[in-house]
Amino acid sequence: MSTKDFFRIRLSTIRPSEDIPFAIYVYVDSKMVEYVKLGDKLAAAKIASLHGRDTGESFFVDNINKPLYRDYVKSSMNSSLISNDQKANILRESSIAILEDLFETPDVGQAIEDTKPVVKDLLEFMQNAPESVGSLISLSGHDFYTYNHSFDVSIYSLGLGSALGFDKATMEDLGLGSLFHDVGKRNVALDILCKRGPLDDAEWVQMKMHPQFGLKILNESATVSDGIKAACYEHHESWKGGGYPQDLHGQEIHPFARIVSLTDTYDAMTTQRSYNVPMRPTEALNMMKEKVSQKFDPEMLRAMYSVLFKMDAA
Ligand SMILES: [Fe+2]
Ligand SMILES: [Fe+2]
Repeated sequence: MSTKDFFRIRLSTIRPSEDIPFAIYVYVDSKMVEYVKLGDKLAAAKIASLHGRDTGESFFVDNINKPLYRDYVKSSMNSSLISNDQKANILRESSIAILEDLFETPDVGQAIEDTKPVVKDLLEFMQNAPESVGSLISLSGHDFYTYNHSFDVSIYSLGLGSALGFDKATMEDLGLGSLFHDVGKRNVALDILCKRGPLDDAEWVQMKMHPQFGLKILNESATVSDGIKAACYEHHESWKGGGYPQDLHGQEIHPFARIVSLTDTYDAMTTQRSYNVPMRPTEALNMMKEKVSQKFDPEMLRAMYSVLFKMDAA
């Protein structure tokens, strides 16, 4: 048995004191070991304590049970016994576990295909429980890698897309584009991605290659839309010019990339990274408006206020 026959789950998606309809495994000494038997229960306190130690690589379910796990999560999402804030947490944790698996698969076209249900679930949740959308955003603050970041950027981007009146198909594409915007970081050395403290010149050169790396990865698949590619390739362009890699201006930049540029910066400013102190939402937005407004589409920057106001008012 190898890890390939299993997919990752987060224990916080398991309902306490209820029969679990699949076995849960842990990966020890290069082996999958059954940890919870099919039909066993876990108490809430046990789940909480194990989840606290879960680095995102601890718990697995057999691939055969993927549809079963999906139905299990779906039934939590439809349950009247679970609060919307808890549902937001389940949706976030189950989506991030899926992303972790997908970001490592070589076939990006397939990964994007497999991500479509995640985006559909997000859109459905945003529609059914708009007051709990803020709870989808990571509370832990610490960004170990790019998954939490990508997920948060997609939530903000979908909020912005909806404020701008995008239709359903465009929203689904935007959701995928924002989830995959940093996919090129797979080709950036991990010690650069996780470095504490500012990057030196040579490290920056490599880091700034991630839009190109990403486009190359996405171009390998024939089915990836232009919008998704643009969100990846153009999200470090700047409204008044001076961005990279193409130094585009204004409307030349794809709307998805203009959205991601804004939500990406916002998330970076409000999240605890290795070397900065996170800003409060209004502080970050005011800073974006006053100091770096030339980077962003002014209409979108204005719309972002209403998106955050709605999330915050929740
Ligand atoms: Fe980026
Ligand atoms: Fe990013």
